[in-house]
Amino acid sequence: MKHLVVLSGAGISAESGIKTFRDADGLWEGYDVMEVASPIGWEKKPELVLKFYNDRRRQLLEVKPNTAHKTLKELEKNFKVSIITQNVDNLHERAGSKNVLHLHGELLKSRSTKNEKLIYDCDKDIMLGDKAEDGGQLRPHIVWFGEAVPEMHKAAKIVETADILLVIGTSLQVYPAASLIDYLPDGKPIYIIDPKRHEDRLLDHVHFIEDTACNGIKEFADLMSK
Ligand code: OAD
Repeated sequence: MKHLVVLSGAGISAESGIKTFRDADGLWEGYDVMEVASPIGWEKKPELVLKFYNDRRRQLLEVKPNTAHKTLKELEKNFKVSIITQNVDNLHERAGSKNVLHLHGELLKSRSTKNEKLIYDCDKDIMLGDKAEDGGQLRPHIVWFGEAVPEMHKAAKIVETADILLVIGTSLQVYPAASLIDYLPDGKPIYIIDPKRHEDRLLDHVHFIEDTACNGIKEFADLMSK
């Protein structure tokens, strides 16, 4: 079986109703990124940060996986599929995908501010005063700007073993995640599904499917069945 590695971003969940970060109506609108997604923001305004992620978590419980998430699950019939996602939602898992690695953390987890390895399941709001068992304030289990990406090494190793790389719904603006495409062995094809071209990251051997995730994934699945 060929190894299909998928790098997904906010765009794959857009048609489920979760806004992307950098589109015109993206989440960052109205919120200063550094206020809600950085250790400095957390230090200055923890209530605002908790509210931001509590809202995202509540929304996640109301949305569903879409055709793109579901088709990636179906592709497991003919491929070994590994998904590396920058998304903090759980829509890949809810569509049934077996191998999902979260690069930027997970909304449905919290962790101790004192110990990044003390992680808990979390489907409720996190409030100031909610403590981990080590006495540390609980915070969202999200990788913020300026923090290390602990799963990066594992993700790079997965891309190194890919026969095909599918990049779907990501602007490839955020590093180190965007550098993962550079780990693909020479000569292996990259497919990008996105309604917008991001020219600066386009390489010669990229097959571009200029469409939304739900439409583009059908074209991709057709190509893979030939
Ligand atoms: P972005 O918001 O930067 O990019 C979303 C991409 O999805 C863009 O290229 C859009 O053109 C595309 N898009 C929009 N609608 C789409 C649709 N219906 N189908 C397919 N694609 C669509 O989001 P990411 O690249 O995921 O980090 O952002 C990377 C990281 O930036 C996020 O993980 C987040 C943020 O900082 C953290 O939260 C730590």
